[in-house]
Amino acid sequence: MTHSSTAQVQDQPVLNRLDFGADFEWGVATAAYQIEGAHDTGDKGASIWDIFTNKRGKVKQNHHGKIACDFFNRYPDDLMLMQEMAIPNFRFSLSWSRLMPAGTGKVSQQGIDYYNRLIDYSLELGITPWVTLYHWDLPHELEKKGGWPNRDIVNWFSEYAALCATTFGDRVNHWMVLNEPMVFTGAGYFLGVHAPGRRCFGSFIPAVHHTALCQAQGGRILKSILPHAEVGTTISCSHVEPLRQREKDIKAAQRVDALLNRLFLESALGLGYPLDDLKFMRRIEKYMKPDDEALLQFDFDFIGIQNYTREVVKHSFWTPFLQANLVPAKKRDVPYTLMNWEVYPEGIYHLLHKYSKYKNIKKLIITENGAAFADELKDGQVNDQQRVEFLKRYLQQVLRAKQEGANVQGYFVWSFLDNFEWAEGYNPRFGLVHVDYETQQRTIKDSGLWYRDFLTNKFKV
Ligand code: NOJ
Repeated sequence: MTHSSTAQVQDQPVLNRLDFGADFEWGVATAAYQIEGAHDTGDKGASIWDIFTNKRGKVKQNHHGKIACDFFNRYPDDLMLMQEMAIPNFRFSLSWSRLMPAGTGKVSQQGIDYYNRLIDYSLELGITPWVTLYHWDLPHELEKKGGWPNRDIVNWFSEYAALCATTFGDRVNHWMVLNEPMVFTGAGYFLGVHAPGRRCFGSFIPAVHHTALCQAQGGRILKSILPHAEVGTTISCSHVEPLRQREKDIKAAQRVDALLNRLFLESALGLGYPLDDLKFMRRIEKYMKPDDEALLQFDFDFIGIQNYTREVVKHSFWTPFLQANLVPAKKRDVPYTLMNWEVYPEGIYHLLHKYSKYKNIKKLIITENGAAFADELKDGQVNDQQRVEFLKRYLQQVLRAKQEGANVQGYFVWSFLDNFEWAEGYNPRFGLVHVDYETQQRTIKDSGLWYRDFLTNKFKV
């Protein structure tokens, strides 16, 4: 059972969209593998998630994304629903193996046609596309050649980024290079709980370095082909606190903060990897070539902040890495979601201030925030009051940070639709729109109606 978060919110002021400023960008976010389905339509190649989900026991209940929300076929209706919900910006990712079945070389015209239709129809409905190049679905053919731990990926990724920019850049102005690099390298190559399921420190370290190189290189390629585009990238981040104010916990918290919140950001900002706080990662220097320090850097137009929770950290002799250091929300008598993530709205406030202090960050966009709760569809409605309260309380903190000077200029809810939540399968539902996976029926949840009313200024006082 999750605690109800409603008890603490009685005296909340009414949220008014206009308080965020007329230019503030509002939207919803999704990712290709989580919604598209059509996993082998036409000449699409397999991605590492197609392969990983075929192995028994990797994903809860052996769920997979073969059909998912069938967004590949249903995008016209879904975009119309989005328009009905008054959502002005739509963040989605491109499937690399749909566009280049083997990851390099041959291009799929069918893949290009699909994304052209998606982009054109979004624009026709007045919805602005925000495109992520890479949201975790590496072409399997490239994993066979070594995947992210192989430095050749910098060339493979460059070819893919150039294809996307030249093909869609006449209509897409907002780009994000990577989605949460720390998660896909850590979960995919070190913990083995995400595709490709490798569990090897010796793969993780070079994967981090090559991912960081691709992050900057992707930015350079997009910007060189599309000088007027807004080019960003996204990072996962959590406000981190020590369990107790004692030196060991404080040091452990510093390590976790460096790993979760600084590694991929500071390398892009030209500050190098925070190895003073991440001694266990010093081996990364072995993979650095003479020019790499400069190559890791790119001057992004925005940094995408993706935040859900906070982490409370205690010292552990077990591992320099993450898990043993984290005190789970369940053990702390705090409210938490279906993912067992603490509901902690002040965290986003602290993060916005933290990142606003970096002088090379031009602006922050919250490219993901949201929550999974045990939603129930009853009489054609989903009364997800907990999600409404979650969103309101996080937005309240975004506004507070903004009013105090944090340079935040956008907010995207994760997610538009319920979808495939990676190793957790379909059970955690994050959507503003409920999906019945048997019938593919969509139902706007109360949170989706709330977001629509907020976006159309229904709460003006
Ligand atoms: C992070 C990821 O970008 C997204 O794919 C995932 O579904 C959400 N957060 C929720 O875990």
